[in-house]
Amino acid sequence: MLTIRDKAPVTEPERQYYFMDLCKEHISRLAEELGHQPTCCVTTFGCQMNARDSEKLVGVLERVGYQLIEEEEKADFVIYNTCTVRDNANQRVYGRLGALKNKKKKNPHMKIALCGCMMQEDVVIEKMKQSYRYVDLIFGTHNIYKFAELLMASFEEEGMVIDIWKDTDKIVEDLPVERKYSFKSGINIMFGCNNFCSYCIVPYVRGRERSRASADIIREIEALVKDGVVEVMLLGQNVNSYGKNLEENITFAGLLEKIEAIEGLERIRFMTPHPKDLSKELIQVMKKSKKICRHLHLPVQSGSTAILEKMNRHYTKESYLELASYIRNEIPDISITTDIIVGFPGETKEDVDHTIDVIKAVEYDSAFTFIYSKRTGTPAAAMENQVSEEEVKEQFNRVLETVQQVAAKRMSLITGQVQPVLFEEINNHDASMLTGKLSNNATVHVKADSSMIGKILPVKLTECKGFYYMGELV
Ligand code: SAH
Ligand code: SF4
Ligand code: F3S
Repeated sequence: MLTIRDKAPVTEPERQYYFMDLCKEHISRLAEELGHQPTCCVTTFGCQMNARDSEKLVGVLERVGYQLIEEEEKADFVIYNTCTVRDNANQRVYGRLGALKNKKKKNPHMKIALCGCMMQEDVVIEKMKQSYRYVDLIFGTHNIYKFAELLMASFEEEGMVIDIWKDTDKIVEDLPVERKYSFKSGINIMFGCNNFCSYCIVPYVRGRERSRASADIIREIEALVKDGVVEVMLLGQNVNSYGKNLEENITFAGLLEKIEAIEGLERIRFMTPHPKDLSKELIQVMKKSKKICRHLHLPVQSGSTAILEKMNRHYTKESYLELASYIRNEIPDISITTDIIVGFPGETKEDVDHTIDVIKAVEYDSAFTFIYSKRTGTPAAAMENQVSEEEVKEQFNRVLETVQQVAAKRMSLITGQVQPVLFEEINNHDASMLTGKLSNNATVHVKADSSMIGKILPVKLTECKGFYYMGELV
Protein backbone atom coordinates (compact mmCIF):
# COMPACT_ATOMS: atom_id res chain seq x y z
CA MET A 1 0.00 0.00 0.00
CA LEU A 2 1.26 3.49 -0.82
CA THR A 3 1.62 5.74 2.20
CA ILE A 4 0.98 9.48 1.99
CA ARG A 5 4.72 9.96 2.07
CA ASP A 6 5.30 7.82 -1.05
CA LYS A 7 2.85 9.97 -2.97
CA ALA A 8 4.52 13.24 -1.98
CA PRO A 9 6.34 15.18 -4.73
CA VAL A 10 10.13 15.00 -4.41
CA THR A 11 10.83 18.57 -5.54
CA GLU A 12 10.56 21.64 -3.31
CA PRO A 13 8.56 23.68 -2.59
CA GLU A 14 5.85 21.44 -4.21
CA ARG A 15 6.46 18.78 -1.57
CA GLN A 16 5.71 21.21 1.26
CA TYR A 17 2.50 22.45 -0.42
CA TYR A 18 1.43 18.79 -0.63
CA PHE A 19 1.96 18.39 3.13
CA MET A 20 0.19 21.70 3.81
CA ASP A 21 -2.89 20.23 2.07
CA LEU A 22 -2.69 17.14 4.28
CA CYS A 23 -2.26 19.25 7.41
CA LYS A 24 -5.28 21.29 6.35
CA GLU A 25 -7.47 18.18 6.24
CA HIS A 26 -6.18 17.18 9.66
CA ILE A 27 -6.87 20.64 11.10
CA SER A 28 -10.43 20.72 9.77
CA ARG A 29 -11.11 17.35 11.46
CA LEU A 30 -9.54 18.74 14.63
CA ALA A 31 -11.74 21.84 14.42
CA GLU A 32 -14.84 19.62 14.43
CA GLU A 33 -13.53 17.64 17.38
CA LEU A 34 -12.66 20.76 19.40
CA GLY A 35 -15.71 22.76 18.38
CA HIS A 36 -13.53 25.75 17.44
CA GLN A 37 -10.91 26.75 14.89
CA PRO A 38 -7.59 25.50 16.28
CA THR A 39 -5.35 28.32 17.50
CA CYS A 40 -1.57 28.76 17.45
CA CYS A 41 0.94 30.99 19.22
CA VAL A 42 4.45 31.66 17.90
CA THR A 43 7.11 33.05 20.25
CA THR A 44 10.36 34.37 18.85
CA PHE A 45 13.64 34.70 20.74
CA GLY A 46 16.80 36.26 19.29
CA CYS A 47 17.60 38.30 16.24
CA GLN A 48 15.82 39.61 13.14
CA MET A 49 16.77 36.44 11.32
CA ASN A 50 14.65 34.48 13.77
CA ALA A 51 11.85 37.02 13.50
CA ARG A 52 11.80 36.45 9.74
CA ASP A 53 11.84 32.66 10.24
CA SER A 54 8.83 33.02 12.54
CA GLU A 55 6.94 34.79 9.75
CA LYS A 56 7.57 31.67 7.66
CA LEU A 57 6.21 29.48 10.47
CA VAL A 58 3.09 31.65 10.71
CA GLY A 59 2.73 31.48 6.92
CA VAL A 60 2.42 27.70 7.09
CA LEU A 61 0.29 27.62 10.26
CA GLU A 62 -2.29 30.06 8.88
CA ARG A 63 -2.39 28.31 5.52
CA VAL A 64 -3.21 24.96 7.14
CA GLY A 65 -6.05 26.48 9.15
CA TYR A 66 -4.68 27.65 12.49
CA GLN A 67 -5.76 31.01 13.85
CA LEU A 68 -2.81 33.03 15.21
CA ILE A 69 -3.37 34.33 18.77
CA GLU A 70 -1.24 36.14 21.35
CA GLU A 71 -2.27 34.25 24.50
CA GLU A 72 -0.12 31.19 24.75
CA GLU A 73 -2.30 29.50 27.38
CA LYS A 74 -5.26 29.44 24.99
CA ALA A 75 -3.31 28.06 22.03
CA ASP A 76 -3.74 24.55 20.65
CA PHE A 77 -0.29 24.75 19.02
CA VAL A 78 2.63 26.52 20.71
CA ILE A 79 6.01 26.96 19.05
CA TYR A 80 9.18 28.60 20.40
CA ASN A 81 11.68 29.77 17.80
CA THR A 82 14.77 29.78 20.01
CA CYS A 83 18.09 31.66 20.24
CA THR A 84 21.32 30.48 21.86
CA VAL A 85 23.67 33.42 21.32
CA ARG A 86 23.89 34.02 25.09
CA ASP A 87 22.98 31.68 27.91
CA ASN A 88 20.14 33.89 29.23
CA ALA A 89 18.23 33.26 25.99
CA ASN A 90 18.41 29.51 26.70
CA GLN A 91 17.36 29.92 30.33
CA ARG A 92 14.25 31.83 29.26
CA VAL A 93 13.25 28.96 26.98
CA TYR A 94 13.69 26.36 29.74
CA GLY A 95 11.68 28.52 32.16
CA ARG A 96 8.77 28.98 29.78
CA LEU A 97 8.79 25.31 28.78
CA GLY A 98 8.46 24.34 32.44
CA ALA A 99 5.37 26.53 32.80
CA LEU A 100 3.88 25.04 29.61
CA LYS A 101 3.90 21.54 31.12
CA ASN A 102 1.00 22.38 33.45
CA LYS A 103 -0.93 24.12 30.69
CA LYS A 104 -0.62 21.04 28.54
CA LYS A 105 -2.01 18.91 31.37
CA LYS A 106 -5.13 21.08 31.37
CA ASN A 107 -5.36 21.09 27.57
CA PRO A 108 -4.22 17.66 26.33
CA HIS A 109 -4.82 18.75 22.71
CA MET A 110 -2.04 21.31 23.07
CA LYS A 111 0.96 20.57 20.88
CA ILE A 112 4.35 22.01 21.76
CA ALA A 113 7.07 22.53 19.16
CA LEU A 114 10.61 23.92 19.37
CA CYS A 115 12.87 25.13 16.58
CA GLY A 116 15.65 27.62 15.96
CA CYS A 117 19.30 27.96 16.92
CA MET A 118 19.20 26.36 20.37
CA MET A 119 17.93 23.11 18.84
CA GLN A 120 21.13 22.78 16.79
CA GLU A 121 23.06 21.97 19.97
CA ASP A 122 23.44 18.29 20.90
CA VAL A 123 23.35 19.05 24.64
CA VAL A 124 19.98 20.76 24.27
CA ILE A 125 18.46 17.84 22.36
CA GLU A 126 19.73 15.40 25.03
CA LYS A 127 18.13 17.54 27.72
CA MET A 128 14.82 17.62 25.80
CA LYS A 129 14.79 13.83 25.46
CA GLN A 130 15.54 13.41 29.15
CA SER A 131 13.50 16.07 30.90
CA TYR A 132 10.98 17.55 28.44
CA ARG A 133 9.21 14.49 27.08
CA TYR A 134 5.98 16.44 26.66
CA VAL A 135 7.41 18.41 23.71
CA ASP A 136 5.85 17.05 20.47
CA LEU A 137 8.08 18.37 17.70
CA ILE A 138 11.69 19.56 17.50
CA PHE A 139 13.52 20.76 14.40
CA GLY A 140 16.44 23.08 13.66
CA THR A 141 17.51 26.01 11.53
CA HIS A 142 18.48 24.10 8.36
CA ASN A 143 15.20 22.27 7.79
CA ILE A 144 12.69 24.97 8.75
CA TYR A 145 11.47 24.87 5.12
CA LYS A 146 10.18 21.33 5.95
CA PHE A 147 7.89 22.64 8.68
CA ALA A 148 4.68 21.46 6.95
CA GLU A 149 6.06 17.95 6.48
CA LEU A 150 7.25 17.78 10.09
CA LEU A 151 3.96 19.13 11.39
CA MET A 152 2.14 16.35 9.54
CA ALA A 153 4.55 13.79 10.99
CA SER A 154 3.81 15.04 14.50
CA PHE A 155 0.04 14.71 13.84
CA GLU A 156 0.54 11.12 12.71
CA GLU A 157 3.10 9.86 15.20
CA GLU A 158 2.87 9.32 18.93
CA GLY A 159 5.64 10.87 21.04
CA MET A 160 8.39 13.32 20.22
CA VAL A 161 9.31 13.91 16.55
CA ILE A 162 12.91 15.16 16.23
CA ASP A 163 14.62 16.19 12.99
CA ILE A 164 17.90 18.08 13.22
CA TRP A 165 20.37 18.53 10.36
CA LYS A 166 24.06 19.31 10.86
CA ASP A 167 24.25 21.70 7.89
CA THR A 168 22.74 22.28 4.45
CA ASP A 169 23.57 23.85 1.13
CA LYS A 170 19.91 24.07 0.19
CA ILE A 171 17.79 27.21 -0.11
CA VAL A 172 14.08 26.60 -0.74
CA GLU A 173 12.23 29.53 -2.33
CA ASP A 174 8.54 30.42 -2.58
CA LEU A 175 7.10 29.10 0.66
CA PRO A 176 4.25 30.98 2.36
CA VAL A 177 5.15 33.90 4.65
CA GLU A 178 2.85 35.93 6.87
CA ARG A 179 4.35 39.33 7.72
CA LYS A 180 3.99 40.88 11.14
CA TYR A 181 3.90 44.38 9.63
CA SER A 182 2.05 45.12 6.39
CA PHE A 183 4.39 47.98 5.41
CA LYS A 184 7.84 46.60 6.19
CA SER A 185 9.61 43.29 5.89
CA GLY A 186 12.86 41.50 6.58
CA ILE A 187 14.44 39.75 3.58
CA ASN A 188 17.06 37.03 3.91
CA ILE A 189 19.84 37.74 1.46
CA MET A 190 22.13 35.09 2.88
CA PHE A 191 22.17 32.38 5.51
CA GLY A 192 24.88 31.11 7.85
CA CYS A 193 28.25 32.55 8.85
CA ASN A 194 31.86 31.60 8.08
CA ASN A 195 33.60 34.06 10.39
CA PHE A 196 33.97 32.02 13.56
CA CYS A 197 34.49 34.91 15.96
CA SER A 198 35.91 32.97 18.89
CA TYR A 199 33.09 33.79 21.35
CA CYS A 200 30.21 33.17 18.95
CA ILE A 201 28.03 30.10 18.52
CA VAL A 202 26.16 31.34 15.43
CA PRO A 203 28.43 29.61 12.83
CA TYR A 204 27.83 26.28 14.62
CA VAL A 205 24.06 26.61 14.71
CA ARG A 206 23.39 28.43 11.43
CA GLY A 207 25.91 26.57 9.27
CA ARG A 208 28.05 27.75 6.36
CA GLU A 209 27.48 30.92 4.44
CA ARG A 210 25.21 30.75 1.40
CA SER A 211 23.69 33.62 -0.58
CA ARG A 212 20.38 33.74 -2.38
CA ALA A 213 20.48 34.50 -6.11
CA SER A 214 19.92 38.23 -6.65
CA ALA A 215 17.02 37.52 -9.04
CA ASP A 216 15.17 35.66 -6.24
CA ILE A 217 15.75 38.55 -3.82
CA ILE A 218 14.58 41.16 -6.33
CA ARG A 219 11.51 39.09 -7.22
CA GLU A 220 10.59 38.77 -3.54
CA ILE A 221 11.00 42.50 -2.89
CA GLU A 222 9.00 43.46 -6.00
CA ALA A 223 6.15 41.25 -4.83
CA LEU A 224 6.33 42.76 -1.34
CA VAL A 225 6.21 46.30 -2.71
CA LYS A 226 3.11 45.37 -4.73
CA ASP A 227 1.65 44.15 -1.44
CA GLY A 228 2.21 47.48 0.34
CA VAL A 229 5.76 47.20 1.71
CA VAL A 230 7.71 50.49 1.75
CA GLU A 231 10.74 49.42 3.82
CA VAL A 232 12.91 46.31 3.57
CA MET A 233 15.61 45.12 5.96
CA LEU A 234 18.17 42.93 4.19
CA LEU A 235 19.32 40.22 6.57
CA GLY A 236 22.58 38.29 6.88
CA GLN A 237 25.19 37.59 9.59
CA ASN A 238 27.79 39.33 7.44
CA VAL A 239 26.10 41.07 4.54
CA ASN A 240 29.49 42.17 3.16
CA SER A 241 30.17 38.61 2.05
CA TYR A 242 26.96 38.53 0.03
CA GLY A 243 27.54 36.89 -3.35
CA LYS A 244 30.81 35.15 -2.53
CA ASN A 245 29.48 31.62 -3.12
CA LEU A 246 27.26 32.51 -6.08
CA GLU A 247 27.95 31.81 -9.73
CA GLU A 248 26.76 35.29 -10.67
CA ASN A 249 29.30 38.05 -10.24
CA ILE A 250 27.75 40.34 -7.62
CA THR A 251 28.78 42.15 -4.43
CA PHE A 252 26.60 43.48 -1.62
CA ALA A 253 27.01 47.02 -2.96
CA GLY A 254 25.87 45.76 -6.38
CA LEU A 255 22.83 44.09 -4.84
CA LEU A 256 21.91 47.35 -3.08
CA GLU A 257 22.01 49.20 -6.39
CA LYS A 258 19.62 46.70 -7.94
CA ILE A 259 17.23 47.01 -4.99
CA GLU A 260 17.42 50.81 -5.11
CA ALA A 261 15.97 50.63 -8.64
CA ILE A 262 12.75 48.94 -7.46
CA GLU A 263 9.97 51.44 -7.97
CA GLY A 264 7.67 52.08 -5.03
CA LEU A 265 10.22 50.93 -2.43
CA GLU A 266 11.09 53.85 -0.14
CA ARG A 267 13.53 52.65 2.50
CA ILE A 268 16.32 50.07 2.52
CA ARG A 269 18.03 48.86 5.68
CA PHE A 270 20.48 46.03 6.24
CA MET A 271 22.04 44.02 9.08
CA THR A 272 24.83 43.21 9.81
CA PRO A 273 27.97 44.41 8.03
CA HIS A 274 31.26 43.12 9.48
CA PRO A 275 33.87 45.90 9.83
CA LYS A 276 36.66 43.67 8.47
CA ASP A 277 35.31 43.78 4.93
CA LEU A 278 33.16 46.85 4.68
CA SER A 279 34.08 48.32 1.30
CA LYS A 280 34.44 51.96 0.32
CA GLU A 281 32.27 51.01 -2.65
CA LEU A 282 29.44 50.26 -0.19
CA ILE A 283 29.82 53.64 1.53
CA GLN A 284 29.78 55.39 -1.86
CA VAL A 285 26.61 53.49 -2.86
CA MET A 286 25.02 54.56 0.44
CA LYS A 287 26.16 58.14 -0.03
CA LYS A 288 24.47 58.58 -3.38
CA SER A 289 21.41 56.52 -2.52
CA LYS A 290 17.98 58.08 -1.98
CA LYS A 291 16.57 54.98 -0.32
CA ILE A 292 19.28 53.41 1.85
CA CYS A 293 18.67 54.63 5.38
CA ARG A 294 21.20 56.85 7.12
CA HIS A 295 22.16 54.14 9.58
CA LEU A 296 25.05 51.74 9.82
CA HIS A 297 25.19 49.08 12.52
CA LEU A 298 28.90 48.34 12.75
CA PRO A 299 29.60 45.92 15.63
CA VAL A 300 32.97 46.70 17.22
CA GLN A 301 32.77 44.10 20.07
CA SER A 302 35.91 45.54 21.71
CA GLY A 303 38.22 48.53 21.29
CA SER A 304 41.32 46.63 22.35
CA THR A 305 43.42 45.31 19.49
CA ALA A 306 44.71 42.48 21.71
CA ILE A 307 41.17 41.35 22.56
CA LEU A 308 40.01 41.80 18.96
CA GLU A 309 42.75 39.44 17.88
CA LYS A 310 41.67 36.83 20.44
CA MET A 311 38.10 37.34 19.25
CA ASN A 312 39.23 36.56 15.68
CA ARG A 313 37.68 39.77 14.37
CA HIS A 314 40.39 40.59 11.77
CA TYR A 315 40.61 44.35 12.46
CA THR A 316 42.41 46.58 14.95
CA LYS A 317 41.35 49.53 17.09
CA GLU A 318 43.10 51.83 14.60
CA SER A 319 41.65 50.31 11.45
CA TYR A 320 38.13 50.41 12.94
CA LEU A 321 38.53 54.07 13.91
CA GLU A 322 39.83 54.90 10.46
CA LEU A 323 36.82 53.21 8.89
CA ALA A 324 34.38 55.02 11.20
CA SER A 325 35.93 58.38 10.45
CA TYR A 326 35.84 57.70 6.68
CA ILE A 327 32.11 56.94 7.02
CA ARG A 328 31.40 60.04 9.11
CA ASN A 329 33.27 62.24 6.64
CA GLU A 330 31.51 60.82 3.61
CA ILE A 331 28.01 60.76 5.12
CA PRO A 332 27.88 63.27 8.01
CA ASP A 333 24.21 62.70 8.87
CA ILE A 334 24.60 58.91 9.22
CA SER A 335 24.07 57.29 12.58
CA ILE A 336 26.54 54.60 13.59
CA THR A 337 25.48 52.01 16.14
CA THR A 338 27.33 49.02 17.51
CA ASP A 339 27.51 45.87 19.64
CA ILE A 340 29.99 45.62 22.49
CA ILE A 341 30.95 42.58 24.56
CA VAL A 342 32.37 43.16 28.04
CA GLY A 343 34.16 40.41 29.97
CA PHE A 344 35.77 38.39 27.17
CA PRO A 345 38.37 35.96 28.65
CA GLY A 346 41.52 37.81 29.71
CA GLU A 347 39.97 41.28 29.30
CA THR A 348 41.61 43.81 31.65
CA LYS A 349 40.57 47.25 32.82
CA GLU A 350 43.04 48.66 30.26
CA ASP A 351 41.35 46.73 27.46
CA VAL A 352 38.04 48.25 28.51
CA ASP A 353 39.73 51.71 28.48
CA HIS A 354 40.40 51.12 24.78
CA THR A 355 36.73 50.22 24.24
CA ILE A 356 35.73 53.45 26.00
CA ASP A 357 38.16 55.39 23.77
CA VAL A 358 36.47 53.98 20.70
CA ILE A 359 32.98 54.80 21.99
CA LYS A 360 34.06 58.40 22.57
CA ALA A 361 35.88 58.71 19.25
CA VAL A 362 33.14 57.22 17.09
CA GLU A 363 30.32 58.85 19.09
CA TYR A 364 27.87 56.02 18.59
CA ASP A 365 24.24 56.99 18.25
CA SER A 366 23.40 53.92 20.30
CA ALA A 367 24.98 50.63 21.26
CA PHE A 368 23.97 47.22 22.54
CA THR A 369 26.28 46.20 25.36
CA PHE A 370 26.47 42.53 26.33
CA ILE A 371 28.17 40.67 29.12
CA TYR A 372 30.29 37.90 27.63
CA SER A 373 28.50 34.57 27.81
CA LYS A 374 30.50 31.36 27.60
CA ARG A 375 29.20 29.19 24.75
CA THR A 376 30.14 25.51 24.85
CA GLY A 377 32.12 24.43 21.80
CA THR A 378 33.47 27.88 20.89
CA PRO A 379 37.25 28.55 21.15
CA ALA A 380 36.74 31.30 23.76
CA ALA A 381 34.98 28.89 26.13
CA ALA A 382 38.25 26.93 26.41
CA MET A 383 40.41 30.04 27.03
CA GLU A 384 42.03 30.63 30.39
CA ASN A 385 41.38 33.76 32.48
CA GLN A 386 37.59 33.75 32.28
CA VAL A 387 36.65 37.03 34.01
CA SER A 388 34.69 36.92 37.29
CA GLU A 389 31.18 38.27 37.54
CA GLU A 390 32.02 41.19 39.89
CA GLU A 391 34.85 42.38 37.67
CA VAL A 392 32.60 42.27 34.63
CA LYS A 393 29.81 44.21 36.34
CA GLU A 394 32.11 47.11 37.14
CA GLN A 395 33.56 47.30 33.63
CA PHE A 396 30.13 46.80 32.07
CA ASN A 397 28.78 49.79 34.00
CA ARG A 398 31.66 51.99 32.84
CA VAL A 399 30.97 51.05 29.24
CA LEU A 400 27.23 51.53 29.59
CA GLU A 401 27.62 54.99 31.14
CA THR A 402 29.94 56.11 28.34
CA VAL A 403 27.52 54.83 25.71
CA GLN A 404 24.64 56.72 27.34
CA GLN A 405 26.56 60.00 27.54
CA VAL A 406 27.80 59.83 23.98
CA ALA A 407 24.46 58.71 22.54
CA ALA A 408 22.52 61.47 24.31
CA LYS A 409 24.94 64.05 22.92
CA ARG A 410 24.65 62.68 19.36
CA MET A 411 20.88 62.51 19.53
CA SER A 412 20.49 66.07 20.78
CA LEU A 413 22.25 67.35 17.60
CA ILE A 414 19.15 67.04 15.42
CA THR A 415 16.54 68.15 17.97
CA GLY A 416 14.35 70.83 16.36
CA GLN A 417 14.82 69.48 12.82
CA VAL A 418 12.03 68.23 10.58
CA GLN A 419 12.64 64.66 9.40
CA PRO A 420 10.61 62.01 7.55
CA VAL A 421 9.21 59.38 9.91
CA LEU A 422 7.79 55.97 9.07
CA PHE A 423 4.90 55.41 11.47
CA GLU A 424 5.06 51.82 12.68
CA GLU A 425 2.70 51.19 15.59
CA ILE A 426 0.43 52.54 18.28
CA ASN A 427 2.46 53.74 21.28
CA ASN A 428 2.66 51.19 24.11
CA HIS A 429 1.77 53.67 26.83
CA ASP A 430 -0.50 56.17 25.13
CA ALA A 431 -2.97 55.00 22.48
CA SER A 432 -3.37 58.54 21.10
CA MET A 433 0.25 58.43 19.94
CA LEU A 434 2.16 56.54 17.26
CA THR A 435 5.72 55.33 17.39
CA GLY A 436 7.85 55.68 14.30
CA LYS A 437 11.40 55.59 13.00
CA LEU A 438 13.66 58.17 11.44
CA SER A 439 15.88 57.18 8.55
CA ASN A 440 18.75 57.01 11.08
CA ASN A 441 16.74 54.41 13.03
CA ALA A 442 16.00 56.63 16.05
CA THR A 443 12.55 56.26 17.62
CA VAL A 444 10.00 59.11 17.70
CA HIS A 445 6.65 59.33 19.51
CA VAL A 446 4.07 61.57 17.88
CA LYS A 447 0.42 62.44 18.49
CA ALA A 448 -1.23 60.90 15.44
CA ASP A 449 -4.01 58.47 14.61
CA SER A 450 -3.67 54.86 13.58
CA SER A 451 -4.66 55.55 9.95
CA MET A 452 -1.13 56.92 9.53
CA ILE A 453 0.55 53.58 10.32
CA GLY A 454 2.72 52.54 7.37
CA LYS A 455 3.06 56.10 6.03
CA ILE A 456 6.19 58.23 5.84
CA LEU A 457 5.45 61.81 6.94
CA PRO A 458 7.50 64.85 8.00
CA VAL A 459 7.79 65.32 11.76
CA LYS A 460 9.39 68.07 13.84
CA LEU A 461 11.63 66.59 16.56
CA THR A 462 10.51 68.80 19.41
CA GLU A 463 12.30 67.14 22.30
CA CYS A 464 15.16 64.67 22.77
CA LYS A 465 14.68 62.26 25.67
CA GLY A 466 18.09 60.58 25.51
CA PHE A 467 17.10 57.39 23.72
CA TYR A 468 14.16 58.71 21.71
CA TYR A 469 12.42 61.87 20.53
CA MET A 470 9.01 63.42 21.02
CA GLY A 471 7.77 64.95 17.79
CA GLU A 472 4.91 66.79 16.10
CA LEU A 473 3.42 66.35 12.65
CA VAL A 474 4.13 69.38 10.49
N1 SAH B 1 26.66 38.71 12.85
C1 SAH B 1 26.53 39.83 13.65
C2 SAH B 1 25.89 39.64 15.01
C3 SAH B 1 25.51 38.31 15.50
S1 SAH B 1 25.10 38.06 17.17
C4 SAH B 1 27.91 40.44 13.81
O1 SAH B 1 28.92 39.85 13.54
O2 SAH B 1 27.95 41.55 14.23
C5 SAH B 1 24.71 39.67 17.80
C6 SAH B 1 25.64 40.15 18.86
O3 SAH B 1 25.63 39.28 19.98
C7 SAH B 1 27.10 40.20 18.46
O4 SAH B 1 27.41 41.33 17.74
C8 SAH B 1 27.81 40.17 19.79
O5 SAH B 1 28.01 41.46 20.31
C9 SAH B 1 26.83 39.43 20.69
N2 SAH B 1 27.35 38.11 21.07
C10 SAH B 1 27.62 37.07 20.27
N3 SAH B 1 28.13 36.05 20.98
C11 SAH B 1 28.16 36.46 22.28
C12 SAH B 1 28.60 35.86 23.51
N4 SAH B 1 29.11 34.64 23.54
N5 SAH B 1 28.46 36.58 24.64
C13 SAH B 1 27.98 37.84 24.62
N6 SAH B 1 27.57 38.45 23.50
C14 SAH B 1 27.66 37.77 22.34
FE1 SF4 C 1 29.01 35.52 15.20
FE2 SF4 C 1 31.11 36.75 14.21
FE3 SF4 C 1 29.46 35.41 12.57
FE4 SF4 C 1 28.66 37.68 13.73
S1 SF4 C 1 30.33 37.47 12.26
S2 SF4 C 1 27.52 35.78 13.59
S3 SF4 C 1 29.64 37.60 15.72
S4 SF4 C 1 30.76 34.53 14.17
FE1 F3S D 1 20.22 33.99 18.28
FE2 F3S D 1 20.35 32.42 16.22
FE3 F3S D 1 20.00 34.99 15.88
S1 F3S D 1 21.58 32.25 18.05
S2 F3S D 1 21.03 35.89 17.62
S3 F3S D 1 18.60 33.64 16.87
S4 F3S D 1 21.16 33.62 14.58
